[in-house]
Amino acid sequence: MNIGNLTFDDYPVFLAPMEDVTDIGFRLLCKEFGADMVYTEFISSDALIRHINKTQSKLEVSDEERPVAIQIYGKDVAAMVEAARICETAHPDVIDLNFGCPVKKVAGKGAGSGMLRTPEKLLEITAAVVRAVNVPVTVKTRLGWDHDNQIIVDLAEKLQDCGIAALTIHGRTRAQMYTGEADWTLIGAVKNNPHIHIPIIGNGDITSPETAKQAFDRYGVDAVMIGRGSIGAPWIFQEVKNYLNDGNMPEKQSFVYYLDVLKRQICQSVKRLDERRGILHSRRHIAASPLFKGIPDFKPTRVAMLRANTMEELFGIMNQIAHKYEKLTSN
Ligand SMILES: Cc1cc2nc3c(=O)[nH]c(=O)nc-3n(C[C@H](O)[C@H](O)[C@H](O)COP(=O)(O)O)c2cc1C
Repeated sequence: MNIGNLTFDDYPVFLAPMEDVTDIGFRLLCKEFGADMVYTEFISSDALIRHINKTQSKLEVSDEERPVAIQIYGKDVAAMVEAARICETAHPDVIDLNFGCPVKKVAGKGAGSGMLRTPEKLLEITAAVVRAVNVPVTVKTRLGWDHDNQIIVDLAEKLQDCGIAALTIHGRTRAQMYTGEADWTLIGAVKNNPHIHIPIIGNGDITSPETAKQAFDRYGVDAVMIGRGSIGAPWIFQEVKNYLNDGNMPEKQSFVYYLDVLKRQICQSVKRLDERRGILHSRRHIAASPLFKGIPDFKPTRVAMLRANTMEELFGIMNQIAHKYEKLTSN
């Protein structure tokens, strides 16, 4: 499978763009565990063209994480074109346009999935950005605005005509936000449309090697993208890739092994931000990590972990868990 001049092996598995999650440290970790392409958090085109410092820092990409896509969103053609040109100077492998974000502050203003209500504008932006830059441009979107307006099959053809290099589809409407189950049937319909020749990347509810395999086998997608399943579990890419490539469920590593991965991630965040902000930033990963699920009477420890304000305190609690959990498993 190719996106522009990037070539991927069979069964590519991508890290989804996630605001406040897919910073450079997390992307590198996912890459280490086998993610075939990683995406930045979405970046506001309006903020980018106003050269807001915090936004500029989101453009930072490193050679070790390649291929990497920078994702932008907005609803104005000129701003999106200018933002894409600014992105190009950061040398990403791909520029991805976000037409899927459902949150009110974005979609309510007509950007993100709000663009699904103005498909002509969405296509105008896409065509203009494709013309403006020399890197492959891709799009990530949803099935449609709501159940009665699932326009993706028709939209995909028109997006392809704009010259995009690949299309990612999250199998939900905007109205669904993140609720219910992702519906992959329309993703399959796009992929099996004989007029479609660009790669189709399927997204939504892939949380295990089996669900990833099902997505490839049932719907024929060219790649899958994992979002929430990777939060607090960057090793999911290794598990999924192993299973897709040789059909075997990978052997589980020890509790301490996974805990060390999380600790490494926390250290990276602290180094990049500072102790307080780095720990705050890591809390989402700690809270979501499957590592701590199913430990008996864990709630008070979990609360303590999520309240810790220093590395010493946090790692102290984590070390106690490791000690206790190893005892538990050896019983
Ligand atoms: C915390 C969070 C932040 C997200 N931020 C973005 C974003 O910046 N850009 C984007 O295209 N999608 C964003 N998404 C959507 C994901 O990329 C993905 O489409 C969605 O979570 C469904 O995939 P999953 O079921 O594997 O999580 C975000 C999702 C979450 C949970």
